[in-house]
Amino acid sequence: MDTTFIDAVSPSSNGQSVRSIDKVVTSIQAKEGAGFSIRRPFPTQSLSFIDPFLLLDHMEPLKLVPGQAKGAPDHPHRGFETVTYLLEGKMHHEDSAGNSGHLEAGDVQWMTAGAGVIHSEMPDVEYFKDGGVLHGFQIWVNLPAVDKMMPPRYQDIPSRMIPVVQNDEGTIRVKVIAGESMGASAVIDTRTPITFLHVDIKSRANFLQSLPENYNVMAYIISGSGTFGDPKAETVEASADQLVVFRKGGKNVRFAESEGGTLSLLLLAGAPLGEPVARYGPFVMNTEEEIKQAMRDYQSGKLGSIERGSKR
Ligand code: CO
Repeated sequence: MDTTFIDAVSPSSNGQSVRSIDKVVTSIQAKEGAGFSIRRPFPTQSLSFIDPFLLLDHMEPLKLVPGQAKGAPDHPHRGFETVTYLLEGKMHHEDSAGNSGHLEAGDVQWMTAGAGVIHSEMPDVEYFKDGGVLHGFQIWVNLPAVDKMMPPRYQDIPSRMIPVVQNDEGTIRVKVIAGESMGASAVIDTRTPITFLHVDIKSRANFLQSLPENYNVMAYIISGSGTFGDPKAETVEASADQLVVFRKGGKNVRFAESEGGTLSLLLLAGAPLGEPVARYGPFVMNTEEEIKQAMRDYQSGKLGSIERGSKR
């Protein structure tokens, strides 16, 4: 299947191979939920998904005036996982399984929709009154066919539980949300092997991450500029709002800060499922018939509804 990757492999100084770059995708601007604006490298008309990742939405750090806040009120999901990573601000969520809570800066919510939930994802109530800055990400991770109808589950991980590793020089800082990096292991449990790192590097520092050769790997740049790939072979420059997609093959992914400032990015990697993808809005299954079933189940109320208490 992946026989073409061999010519993309190039040696690096440590004798291991470094992945070259497949492409750089510039994100589009789009509206989500009740109409808040996001940056989206995929899905777009030209790039549907990067197996097993189905969507990457960057809610940019917008300063909201009172009354401007918008979220994603009650909506369903089935067949995959939604991962919310908040960098600034405060969100409130609740769902049809009876879960509710707040997400604050640095927190991660890893929700496995499985057979289906209805949830709402809203800026905290104070934003509607006072305004403020919200900044974060939502990533959709596909589930293998065998897990698509599993019972829903939540992992709400506060920032203080997420390992952060730094080098001695203070030029590299890695928050290990899923997988492993620089000797630290994530606390989040993923259904299929995923690595999700928030990497900040300064002052032209280099970063090398070892990843299984079969993983699909990408880097979404939040801010700053970097050089990606093997300097002994071919490198590519990319900057904020761009997604760098690495070619398969090679044990390491390498990048460096390129302007003497700070490069901040999300490194996302995962073992591809290699299964058919049928998607329609909030449902991602393997066949069109399963999508139709999901819509019927949603319309007939089988995904439940959110029970709202007297306080929120
Ligand atoms: Co949602």
